[in-house]
Amino acid sequence: MDTKKKHRVCPVEEAGMLDHPLRRLYESPKRILSSFVGAGMDVLDIGCGPGFFTLEMARRVGAAGRVTAVDLQQGMLVKARAKLERAGLADKVTFHPCRADAIGLAGAFDFILVFHVLHEVPDPAGFLRELKGLLKAGGRALLAEPGFHVSRGEFQGSLELAKRAGLEIGPGPRIRFSRTAVLRGTSDESMGNAARN
Ligand SMILES: C[S@@+](CC[C@H](N)C(=O)[O-])C[C@H]1O[C@@H](n2cnc3c(N)ncnc32)[C@H](O)[C@@H]1O
Repeated sequence: MDTKKKHRVCPVEEAGMLDHPLRRLYESPKRILSSFVGAGMDVLDIGCGPGFFTLEMARRVGAAGRVTAVDLQQGMLVKARAKLERAGLADKVTFHPCRADAIGLAGAFDFILVFHVLHEVPDPAGFLRELKGLLKAGGRALLAEPGFHVSRGEFQGSLELAKRAGLEIGPGPRIRFSRTAVLRGTSDESMGNAARN
């Protein structure tokens, strides 16, 4: 596949598909996030799009927690903010525009979501190094890539880059049509290398 097609950024015009109610049937934010996000956590949604997962993250962190939603496209952040405003939760979220080659945040997060984003990033190795620097000790990131765009071999290649960035790789949850892995920034626990792909 040519590189341009591979790194095609999902346009704002397709945001409606990302936020379609039917999506909850096979990628339920509640189910996916329940074992990762809890009350009081500081969490990051990188490549948040129109906020499909951001809303559930804001609900789950509660009064003491905080969500940062990052996207390359201002149009996606506008949609995400509007969604959170409709739910009365926009004040729980910091909306951060980033560049394709830099997330550009400081801080340490308990949990980072990278859902169907990495294949759009032009420098995944640099992105994963930056992501590692944003994880708290013991923090986790959920990496999910769409199985229909990203082959098993390509996903394994991304996990190799994650390892080289100093992240530990563990199995991700089963999500239909996705390849998943959990990444950790510390080596305090042996996680094996059984990502779901
Ligand atoms: C396929 S959409 C997925 C959106 C959301 N994670 C979801 O699952 O609904 C990919 C999103 O990643 C954003 N994106 C692409 N490259 C990015 C980068 N380098 N840094 C941050 N966001 C990026 C796009 O603008 C788009 O909103």
